[in-house]
Amino acid sequence: MALRNILNESDPILHKVCRPVEKFDGRLHRLLDDMKETLAAAEGAGLAAPQVGVLRRAVIIIDDEGGYIEMVNPVITQAEGSQDGPEGCLSVPGRSGIVVRPERVTVRAQNAHGEPIEVTGEGFLARAFCHEIDHLDGILYVDKMVREIFPDEEEEDGEAETDGEEEGE
Ligand code: CO
Repeated sequence: MALRNILNESDPILHKVCRPVEKFDGRLHRLLDDMKETLAAAEGAGLAAPQVGVLRRAVIIIDDEGGYIEMVNPVITQAEGSQDGPEGCLSVPGRSGIVVRPERVTVRAQNAHGEPIEVTGEGFLARAFCHEIDHLDGILYVDKMVREIFPDEEEEDGEAETDGEEEGE
């Protein structure tokens, strides 16, 4: 495994639409392993392949127990409810903003071996699914946030962080 460089929002790669993964081979497995290591080192909540410069539809998300969810070619098949809360991104360091997301999301995807999986997430996990899948379509949270959170605001009242500790995705 190896650490990969996380691209910054100014990189045009982060604004492109990713292609589907077609080969579930060693190259994909290396990519997913590297993404896990890179995500762990950055102490983030999720990471999408374009953030490490690969324009393919693959994401890694930390689940509620701290394990990794690997999703290849993920598609949101169901979304219910609404939540607004703080969001950050490893490609947009030092910033955060309020983004409206569904409260509960079901995703169909494939695992690293091409087998179909279905995962349902609520709350923070639903937010992470939406955030990472947006990356695959070249969309960053800053493109859809309803407002930015400024650091002095967090210090003042702490209300900006409804999900507890903020994590980059
Ligand atoms: Co992100």
